Amino acid sequence: MRLAQILFSQGFGTRRECAGLVYSELVEVEGRVVDDPDADFPTDGLVFRVRGEPWRYFEKALVLLHKPAGYECSMKPKHHPSVMSLLPLPLRTRGLQPVGRLDEDTTGFLLLTDDGTLLHKLTSPKHHVPKIYEVTLKHPVDEGQVQRMLAGVVLDDDPSPVRAAACEATGERSLRLTLTEGKYHQVKRMAAAVSNRVEQLHRSAMGSLTLGELAPGKWRWVEAQEQAALGLKAG
Ligand code: URA
Repeated sequence: MRLAQILFSQGFGTRRECAGLVYSELVEVEGRVVDDPDADFPTDGLVFRVRGEPWRYFEKALVLLHKPAGYECSMKPKHHPSVMSLLPLPLRTRGLQPVGRLDEDTTGFLLLTDDGTLLHKLTSPKHHVPKIYEVTLKHPVDEGQVQRMLAGVVLDDDPSPVRAAACEATGERSLRLTLTEGKYHQVKRMAAAVSNRVEQLHRSAMGSLTLGELAPGKWRWVEAQEQAALGLKAG
């Protein structure tokens, strides 16, 4: 692929701006400055530098962000900055979108992608990708509450009950809850339905992919082989 096209596809600006970066000798490939926007490179596994910063080529981007509290998942946030502001400019330019939403005060595992097919798969109720939440509650949790969440509780806007795929008490006031759906404020409303209240909510994993050592506010690429951990089959 032509170098200017590579930069454009990865979110480094308009076609003209990308050609300008190359002419200005700000782009390095394989350890040397390239000043010809038409220079051709294989994109598979390509790592290039723009203004000295290394960047990996991905046809489609899938990244994992450790969402801190105080950020909105909306593209047009109302009261707090958007999670997009935690990503570097090329990813913002590429139009990544959050895979589902976390509330402003919820922390943890958030995927973002510009791959429409993947976004659909990961958010479609049909695919049932499990999401794991660590929940801190206001009141002590008892076995009755755990059993009701597993059996199914009715939320105010929907007569069909929603159930946790897994639920276990992890402390006097804490739960680990696994959900395969993603209804609006689902964890908070399920806790309310069993007469408790969520004080803190943290999503730790999707499928078997966890946040690992990723610090709050930081992001990383999700490697192709990690997509299996999200419960996705190829195709
Ligand atoms: N359930 C909630 O109530 N809030 C979230 O952010 C995610 C799941």
